[in-house]
Amino acid sequence: MEIKSERIILREFNEEDKKIIVPLLNNLNVTKWLLVYPFPFDLSDAEKTINHMIKRSLENPRTSYNLAIELKKSKELIGGIGLVKIDLEQKTGGVMYWVGEKYWRNGYGSEALKIILDFAFNVLKLRRLYAEVYPGNDSSINLLEKFGFKKEGYLRKSVICKADGKIKDTLYYGLLKEDYNK
Ligand SMILES: CC(C)(COP(=O)(O)OP(=O)(O)OC[C@H]1O[C@@H](n2cnc3c(N)ncnc32)[C@H](O)[C@@H]1OP(=O)(O)O)[C@@H](O)C(=O)NCCC(=O)NCCS
Repeated sequence: MEIKSERIILREFNEEDKKIIVPLLNNLNVTKWLLVYPFPFDLSDAEKTINHMIKRSLENPRTSYNLAIELKKSKELIGGIGLVKIDLEQKTGGVMYWVGEKYWRNGYGSEALKIILDFAFNVLKLRRLYAEVYPGNDSSINLLEKFGFKKEGYLRKSVICKADGKIKDTLYYGLLKEDYNK
């Protein structure tokens, strides 16, 4: 799958991306806000990660889309964004995303999230999406709220973050299709 917008392309991950994601994800400033990436993050972690994504992309019907965020002009891979836990009967799913630190604050996260929300609501016809964020992750909270996500819950000590091994609380955010389209 491939979707383009003004400056970026969302596309499937491939073998060549393995080397490229290592420096982007070998960074606690990124992975301390995520659940599953270890720190340090080396080539064997990248291989596991991308092999898993490739395998999941072959499911039919798909229950996840883990897509690379690529800059249109330079063809640089700058991050990843995903729809996870897609339930086509319930018409629900979740979103997760990350952008390499050197690319932050250029609006790429917003552009990628807009593509994936349009895809989820208008192509997959989902009716509700969730996102989980750790308290203190202001950039992600601002990003979600900008698109209409509402805080629905606070889960105490709900996860162990793989990157730093810390037990973390989670803010649970939800977005209904009707609120996104407003
Ligand atoms: C969250 C993340 C994807 C944002 O990516 P980005 O490309 O910098 O996002 P944008 O440039 O589109 O900024 C999106 C919004 O976030 C907010 N924002 C971005 N950086 C911020 C910061 N350092 N402090 C506060 N708000 C910030 C702003 O509201 C911004 O919107 P605006 O520019 O219209 O005001 C990126 O910071 C990241 O990958 N963080 C680590 C991983 C992560 O937290 N993933 C999400 C887990 S829930």
